[in-house]
Amino acid sequence: MGIGQDISTAAAILRNGGLVAFPTETVYGLGARADSGAAVRRIFEVKARPSTHPLIVHIADSQQLEFWAVHVSTDAWKLANAFWPGPLTLIFKRQPEVPLEVTGGLGTVAVRVPNHPVALQLLREVGVGVAAPSANRFSEVSPTCSEHVENDLGDRVDYILEGGSSVVGIESTILDVSGSAPVMLRPGGVSKEAIEATLGYEIVLLEKSETRAPGQHALHYAPRAEVKLIAPGNLRTEALLQVALGRRVGILAHGLSVEELPPMVFVHTVAGDPDDLARELYAALRSLDASGVDLIIASLPEPAGIGLAIADRLTKAAGPRS
Ligand code: TXA
Ligand code: MG
Repeated sequence: MGIGQDISTAAAILRNGGLVAFPTETVYGLGARADSGAAVRRIFEVKARPSTHPLIVHIADSQQLEFWAVHVSTDAWKLANAFWPGPLTLIFKRQPEVPLEVTGGLGTVAVRVPNHPVALQLLREVGVGVAAPSANRFSEVSPTCSEHVENDLGDRVDYILEGGSSVVGIESTILDVSGSAPVMLRPGGVSKEAIEATLGYEIVLLEKSETRAPGQHALHYAPRAEVKLIAPGNLRTEALLQVALGRRVGILAHGLSVEELPPMVFVHTVAGDPDDLARELYAALRSLDASGVDLIIASLPEPAGIGLAIADRLTKAAGPRS
């Protein structure tokens, strides 16, 4: 059915067990009603995603939280009240009824309220939580506009709901609040600093989250081209070296003087401001891929604020390939 703006049509498709790609402030999601194991199974087929990778349940407001979660702590409520709607996913012990397909067989469930008017209206009309991973093929770059979704998934989804470009541009922060102390499993749109300011204490960032967040394996968020991380001062030298080696090189850089580079190097200038960089990052990686380069060189931002999430995604994109 392609791309459309009809929220009621999208809601009806979801209620009937169909798949709808929908906009959020982070990235576009590929949704199915979360209370139906059969509907959720289709997400895994379309994404070619391993069935053990759990999904995030998107709800319209925090009043729906206890339909999915049990033992919501005082600190978890503090975070929900401070950051929802917004790019923070919280992991709780689950209600027994949550379908196995949503949780990947874990005893926990991930929940968030997205901060996007179209998503919120959709969720209100569906009336039940919507399970959704990012609406891209497994392990590839997440989509930040409807066109990205159409390129990746095309007619494999029942409807793509238009909602403009995602304003955060990078996935939600995932915080596990199911144990005695909160643990950050994935940096994202809400900074570690902001969470700590709300809680009044420091939280742990799990570096090797393989077992805690199965979707967090190396080589996630990867464009087709190889990604190489280089210190900012060495981007130009590295580009020249790689060109000499016969590579088709793209550079993701801020404030690099293009005149000093051979014309065959494809330079994608990105914002210096970290919020702007996060917003543009995935579209930039996609456009470098489309330009036909086989190597993208980039440098990491300061790992503070949203820079921590950008650094995480670029590091994963540069990860080992099998
Ligand atoms: O911003 C976002 O979070 C986007 C939008 C669509 O909401 N969604 C998203 O979904 O990024 P996805 O599936 O690409 O990433 C969700 C991550 C996965 O890495 C998964 O392993 C983790 O959440 N996750 C989900 N449930 C979990 C659980 N119970 N325990 C640990 N990790 C969980
Ligand atoms: Mg994803």
